[in-house]
Amino acid sequence: MTAASDSTAEERDTQGSGVSAEGRILEMVAKGVALSDVLDGLCRLVEERRPGVLASILLRDGDRLRHGGAPSLSKTYTDAIDGAAIGATAGSFGTAAYRAQQVIVADIGTDPLWADYRERALAHGLRACWSTPIFASGGAVIATFAMYFREPRSPSPRDQQIVEQITHLAGIAIQRKLDEDKLRESEDERKRAEEALHRAQAELAHVTRLTTLGQLAASIAHEVNQPLAAIVADANASLNWLAAAEPELERVRETLTAIATDGHRAADVIQRIRQLATKTEPRKARLDVDGVVSDVVALVRAEVARHDITLTLDSAPSLPSVVGDRVQLQQVVLNLVMNAIEAMAPVTDRPRKLVIRSERHADDEVRVTVHDTGVGIRASDLDRAFSAFFTTKPGGMGMGLSISRSIIEAHGGRLWASPNAPHGAIFQFSLPVA
Ligand SMILES: Nc1ncnc2c1ncn2[C@@H]1O[C@H](COP(=O)(O)OP(=O)(O)OP(=O)(O)O)[C@@H](O)[C@H]1O
Ligand SMILES: [Mg+2]
Repeated sequence: MTAASDSTAEERDTQGSGVSAEGRILEMVAKGVALSDVLDGLCRLVEERRPGVLASILLRDGDRLRHGGAPSLSKTYTDAIDGAAIGATAGSFGTAAYRAQQVIVADIGTDPLWADYRERALAHGLRACWSTPIFASGGAVIATFAMYFREPRSPSPRDQQIVEQITHLAGIAIQRKLDEDKLRESEDERKRAEEALHRAQAELAHVTRLTTLGQLAASIAHEVNQPLAAIVADANASLNWLAAAEPELERVRETLTAIATDGHRAADVIQRIRQLATKTEPRKARLDVDGVVSDVVALVRAEVARHDITLTLDSAPSLPSVVGDRVQLQQVVLNLVMNAIEAMAPVTDRPRKLVIRSERHADDEVRVTVHDTGVGIRASDLDRAFSAFFTTKPGGMGMGLSISRSIIEAHGGRLWASPNAPHGAIFQFSLPVA
């Protein structure tokens, strides 16, 4: 190559054609093009500027070098180099990575650094190799960039300029890839931790649901037995009416209707228990909170009666729907109602009243409020009550409110407590309108 053609090439480089080659490479990096394509692009860029060069980039992987980009070297050669150990006499590339310094081998045929790779290189017609380390922003070697020639050769200042430019660009591309990998890894880790937390929370929620159902077992049995007993009584009565000389068919029909209703009632309670007892993945759907409240009321009716509590349901007409997991929201209402029942158990000097109110609030919220006339809650405990394991009950776990709050917050709502006047407590939650 003559000096004249050199300077022409240089002029082409500096004048460029609109978007510079470097610009194109950086654009590839920014667009997230695969690193191997970016590195191949860089090698081709060098080869266009310096005809006769065969460019190669190797990536550091611990104490070895892996193929990065080398579009013009034969695959048998790059395969042989792939995985080369970094060391004091490891060709130009492995030695450059080892010394963290440029290694110029003007003649592979004679240089001792090439002892291990000489034959292979010569077999592929490679005679000179200059390798330059590429550094991470922290200063560690992350790759090496090599220029091979088919004849013995030493670099000119112009060659060094290209080397500098290319190692700089390659450094940006590789660093970016490493940063992305690291980011993805920590993102994956965060996701895994979050999933584990969700699983643990769901597990805990399920266990506490079972505990609550256990507490309610006697009342629920009563709730199922009642319609069953009515069914038996009604069926006997019907048999008698049919056995009469003139069967009273009209009464039999009415009684059968009542039997069907009671059958549904019992099945309904069982179905609700199953819903609460089985472990299901959270599933969000549009639902109305009144439905959730009545699901719970069906389960606690007997428990409420057993404690001489008057229950009032106060639901605003045409409440908008919310989006939520039915079982989880049932669990919240159940926890609040059980707490209210427990808070009223010691009260003997005044009526025990439980009011569950649902209403629209501030246009974009549905609010459910549970009022009781129980022992009340101290101002200093209004917040603490929501901490896990905070309990004032001998057999309490102190998990109910903590789980309820995390459920409501996961639904984009809030759950809080305030004193009721003149006695008792108010627990309420809000959910965004669907
Ligand atoms: N309606 C209420 N009236 C008065 N105090 C209440 C009421 N609800 C909750 N508390 C207080 O908050 C504490 C925590 O309630 P939480 O439901 O989290 O746990 P717990 O009822 O004690 O036990 P569990 O885990 O079995 O529900 C209760 O122990 C009680 O002191
Ligand atoms: Mg509780």
